[in-house]
Amino acid sequence: MLRRPRRNRKSEAVRNLVEETSLSVKDLIFPMFLVDGVKKTIAIDSMPGINRYSLDTLLGEIESCMKLGIHAFDVFPAYPDSMKNATATESYNPETFYLKALREIKKQFPEACLMSDVAMDPYSSDGHDGLVKNGKILNDETLEILARMSLAQADAGVDILGPSDMMDGRVGYIRELLDENGFVDTSIMSYTAKYASAFYGPFRDALDSAPKFGDKKTYQMNPANAQEALIEADLDAEEGADFLMVKPALSYLDIIKLLKDNYSLPIAAYNVSGEYSMIKASAQKGWIDNDRAMMETLLSMKRAGAKVILTYFAKEYASLSK
Ligand code: PBG
Repeated sequence: MLRRPRRNRKSEAVRNLVEETSLSVKDLIFPMFLVDGVKKTIAIDSMPGINRYSLDTLLGEIESCMKLGIHAFDVFPAYPDSMKNATATESYNPETFYLKALREIKKQFPEACLMSDVAMDPYSSDGHDGLVKNGKILNDETLEILARMSLAQADAGVDILGPSDMMDGRVGYIRELLDENGFVDTSIMSYTAKYASAFYGPFRDALDSAPKFGDKKTYQMNPANAQEALIEADLDAEEGADFLMVKPALSYLDIIKLLKDNYSLPIAAYNVSGEYSMIKASAQKGWIDNDRAMMETLLSMKRAGAKVILTYFAKEYASLSK
């Protein structure tokens, strides 16, 4: 035998030399949940190890993450039903706790990269990402609300806006508006190929944001489709997106690879709540090794072509790789 691939696996030092993919805390964005109030750390049953924080405790958590080398955070607000309505007006109320928190985070950690979600669902009494009329999710009318939300978040100091609702035309609409208002440096990470997935379940528990009727299939993509991701990516690239995101990650590694091979924009993968909880639940039962499963799945996203990974494992990964 002239060729023996095992020679390149004979020791850790040799394996390191031929290692093709590497993962770093620099690649990670940590999604976090915010609630109104003070001194709150509320566990999320379906996401062991992840909490909803009030601003004071969230700032402490961000500080400890910064010390571990995590410098990017995506903050999601959990609103009580009493503050939700059909037009999501709370999303751009300058006095709302979420916008005040974003401003304070940016003030205390100016060097951190702060990301926010642009979609109606946390503020909508219908639990949908768009305006609802006669059971239909409206597209163009929703853009106006997204625009107000985007300007309010950019004004609060957010570095990267994440339009996550899969409405048509939103990236271009938001980009033009940001530019007209002087926010030329505010980036857009488009949720380019976001699938109608079962893996968002624990996130909807965390925010209490499940749709009140129906599902999200008229705006989120069909899990059967890959070609369609190219249409979405073409549009987002033309409309000025700075990053293209694929979500969820694990069942869509082929889509990550597809976008990586066809676009020069950086690709992000959202390792969503259900993917996190699957590993946590089986590790709690002793069925798989948490740390190894975490490492292997995160690595698979990078290998597929993601540069950026949004993951609830960010802090754990950072602690482990210190
Ligand atoms: C909603 C939004 C969702 C997630 C991020 N933004 C859920 C949904 O579309 O219903 C899911 C994230 C996760 O599951 O971790 N705009």
